[in-house]
Amino acid sequence: MSYLELHQLETHFTKMAGNLFSPRKEIIRAVDGVTLSIEKGEILGLVGESGCGKSTLSRTVMQLIPATSGSVVLNGESLTHLSTSQIRKRRLDFQMIFQDPYASLNPRMTIFSTLAEALYQRHPNLSNKETYDRIIKLMETVGLDPAVMKKYPHEFSGGQRQRIAIARALAPEPKLIIADEPVSALDVSIQSQILNLLKQLRADLGLTMIFISHDLGVVRYIADNIAVMYQGKIVEYGEAESVFHHPQHDYTKRLLASIPKLPAA
Ligand SMILES: Nc1ncnc2c1ncn2[C@@H]1O[C@H](COP(=O)(O)OP(=O)(O)O)[C@@H](O)[C@H]1O
Ligand SMILES: [Mg+2]
Repeated sequence: MSYLELHQLETHFTKMAGNLFSPRKEIIRAVDGVTLSIEKGEILGLVGESGCGKSTLSRTVMQLIPATSGSVVLNGESLTHLSTSQIRKRRLDFQMIFQDPYASLNPRMTIFSTLAEALYQRHPNLSNKETYDRIIKLMETVGLDPAVMKKYPHEFSGGQRQRIAIARALAPEPKLIIADEPVSALDVSIQSQILNLLKQLRADLGLTMIFISHDLGVVRYIADNIAVMYQGKIVEYGEAESVFHHPQHDYTKRLLASIPKLPAA
């Protein structure tokens, strides 16, 4: 049994279509029968073009939206069958990192308050001293100078804000991190720093991660295995280098062809 297993997972949305006189319901099969397994400490890269269902799949795994059918099993426990209150408790075990850290950080909260709030979710009774010590450690873990803990998000660059968002995700000691396009809004030079940080965290903390991107080149850099998603389905899965060098599916070949090539020096 793998650490995280998705069995025939489906998430459908209904949308009203047609017109006023002949309305009809249209079903959007955002996630359409996904079966995947992830080992503990693995980084799975999930890649596909915009609209193929990557974010919906991640939110379904996190139990933020209910699955239409199928199951999510973490460490032998089916999450799809938990009650709402059980899910609320489990939610600390899964943390997300998003594309836009500025939107996901509260602009009125200092880094200290943001991280303290995240720490208290798991450890509500931390003393001031313990909180302070843990925040210093978290900031060091993500490569931020603890001296800036009293600053606000707008005082940081995009890359630093993403480091803050990563520190916040780590604070409740999650078992699984889903990073949804975490470097897509960053300059290329900053992208590799954040990718290296995530790799380092996996090595140091043994994190299990689903790393989502529309860019196969980025996913190849960080992932152990790659799942290629197309119209709600996984059309190709395999070890990262083998998917990159020997893609089987036409869609993967097209994704590969769309990676910008550096001009020859
Ligand atoms: N809450 C929702 N209600 C209706 N349709 C949605 C909702 N969320 C996503 N979709 C649709 O599901 C499909 C997959 O979207 P999404 O998971 O955001 O793709 P991706 O993250 O790969 O860009 C799209 O067609 C999108 O319009
Ligand atoms: Mg998305």
